[in-house]
Amino acid sequence: MTASSDLRPPGLSGPALAARAAAVLRDNDVGALVTASPKLYPHMWSWDAAFIAIGLAYLDVRRALTELDTLFAAQWSDGMLPHIVFTDADGYFPGPDRWGTDDAPQRPATVRTSGICQPPVHAIALRRIVAIARRTSPADAELAESFTARAWDALYRWHRWLATYRVSPECGLVTIVHGWESGMDNSPRWDDAYAAVEPGPDLPPYVRLDTLGVDDPGERPSDAEYDRYLWLVEQMRRVRYDATAVVRNSDFRVGDVFSTALFALACDDLVALADELDLPVTREVTDLGEWARAARRAVAEAADPRGLAHDRDLRRNRPLRAPTVASFAPVLCGALPTATESRLLDELAGPDWAGHPDFVAAVPPSVSPREPGFDSRRYWRGPQWPVVTWLFSHALRRGGHTALAARWREEGLRLVSDGSFGEYYEPFTGEPLGSTQQSWTAAVALDWLCGEW
Ligand code: SER
Repeated sequence: MTASSDLRPPGLSGPALAARAAAVLRDNDVGALVTASPKLYPHMWSWDAAFIAIGLAYLDVRRALTELDTLFAAQWSDGMLPHIVFTDADGYFPGPDRWGTDDAPQRPATVRTSGICQPPVHAIALRRIVAIARRTSPADAELAESFTARAWDALYRWHRWLATYRVSPECGLVTIVHGWESGMDNSPRWDDAYAAVEPGPDLPPYVRLDTLGVDDPGERPSDAEYDRYLWLVEQMRRVRYDATAVVRNSDFRVGDVFSTALFALACDDLVALADELDLPVTREVTDLGEWARAARRAVAEAADPRGLAHDRDLRRNRPLRAPTVASFAPVLCGALPTATESRLLDELAGPDWAGHPDFVAAVPPSVSPREPGFDSRRYWRGPQWPVVTWLFSHALRRGGHTALAARWREEGLRLVSDGSFGEYYEPFTGEPLGSTQQSWTAAVALDWLCGEW
């Protein structure tokens, strides 16, 4: 691991920050997986694991591949990658008993998991890891390439599961059946759709544990939101997580523009990996190309004339118009004409968003401070999330917007430069919120510091 030392954010120097990030990943490593964080999230989360594997690749390529292997070993027989792979740790709710996935015939035999998914960033991570390994040593390159040849089919089946069960026949967006599937649990994106979810009187009682793992419960979703979250789990559990029945029955069924943009990018990366390694997967590559094109088209069709994309409430067949960072999904996957994309990027970099004059670090907040519902401390309702900044910086670099990608890398590093690796940050003070020693924050910092940019 070599961290660039020319970078001088106001906190730690580049090498000191990289050393601290590496220590977080090592400290959270429980063997075959790195927990998402030590206290609040003592298990493996699907999209966290993808970012964590990128960070691990700077420490030990073999260990990075093990992380993905652990996740793929939990793949359901229908192809779904579950959003949580549980360790034996207590202290997180809802745990495997509440999910009740033991009764689902498609569940994996050897590990307990949740019954929903998260955004499909895994192929994006694997391609990044292969690139890192090729720069590290011929032996690491060989390891990463042979892993890719072996794991490619698991990723293809995961994408096929999304294409089969989740790409909406109505609008082409990736459908989610729970806000947790977006990764942006309590974002205002979902308020309108959640307003129609009425927890039944037979919702089994429960006790939240997440609010105990943070300094202030106001940094987490509300109790009313949690009732709805648990009600949706109850609905899925009652159909034993049958992939078709889940989508048909859920009181929350939404087309997610951000996940759809990531799906397009991930399909591209899976194709690129097959090409680079000359894998004999012609038919699969054709599928992936079609899914990527359809995903971009769906994101473009979800965009308004300014280019901002709107999620869609599929139960009530109407757009969800709350503007959030996810509204900029088209720039992630290059769904729009260049002129519109440039305008969107100017807006996202401008004073209503990342360039707000009072922000400590000029990276996009989850919600603009101009929005009436903006809450600078509460989870996805205002704070800045380093991992979201990483996604934009990575996608912009790929899309040729190298100057802005470099700026967001630098500003992302400024955000995390105190070395506490918060889950998310208060934009006006830079205070780390939620969990600290959050593995994916450490991982993206390592990539910003040690990767090719
Ligand atoms: N993000 C959720 C939580 O906070 C679970 O996916 O627990």
